Amino acid sequence: MKTKNILKSLTGSILLTIATSAVYFQASAREPFTKEELKAQEKKLLVAVEEGYNLWHGSNPTMQNNGLACGNCHPDAAASNPQTFPKYHTAFDRVVTWREMVNWCIQNPQGGKVLDVGGPEMLAIEAYAFNLHRGLPIEPGLASRQTKPIKVDHGKGFPSKPSGIGFDTK
Ligand code: HEC
Repeated sequence: MKTKNILKSLTGSILLTIATSAVYFQASAREPFTKEELKAQEKKLLVAVEEGYNLWHGSNPTMQNNGLACGNCHPDAAASNPQTFPKYHTAFDRVVTWREMVNWCIQNPQGGKVLDVGGPEMLAIEAYAFNLHRGLPIEPGLASRQTKPIKVDHGKGFPSKPSGIGFDTK
């Protein structure tokens, strides 16, 4: 009899906790972002994308010692395939992140000093490449999506260079 009562009150308090949490979370959930907020967020992203564009085209000389920049071999971030990571790479003989592969290219084809994988420059490089790959299906683990010759649409990488941030937001 006693055990039954204890169980009853325990169930009661659990239910009460769930109910109050639901009310709390509902009350604390914010409204969807306004158009202006979304625009401000996109602008912040594009600042990183533009910095990434500059790094991709040689703005940090410590990333190379032979005059090469990412854009020489990966115009428009071609063949960098961010949507296929993480994946196995023969150079490491293990599964690697996209950022590790960026450092591999800085060290090997470019003979430069690797970037901090969690640092702002790596973030910017990632923002640029991922931005140009928007809309592609994420297929982690795939060795390569490039079975056809690469089509370069924008030469150095900017779809257009209007005033201000300069990156096409479409
Ligand atoms: C001299 C040419 C050259 C330069 C410069 C170069 N890369 Fe690469 N990159 C390559 C080659 C070749 C591979 C393929 C390596 C492999 O698969 O073992 C590659 C592969 C990659 C990959 C992995 C792609 C995949 O699908 O596996 C990424 C990411 C990458 N490069 C980013 C960069 C970035 C960022 C820079 C500039 C910091 C850069 N690369 C500079 C030639 C280059």
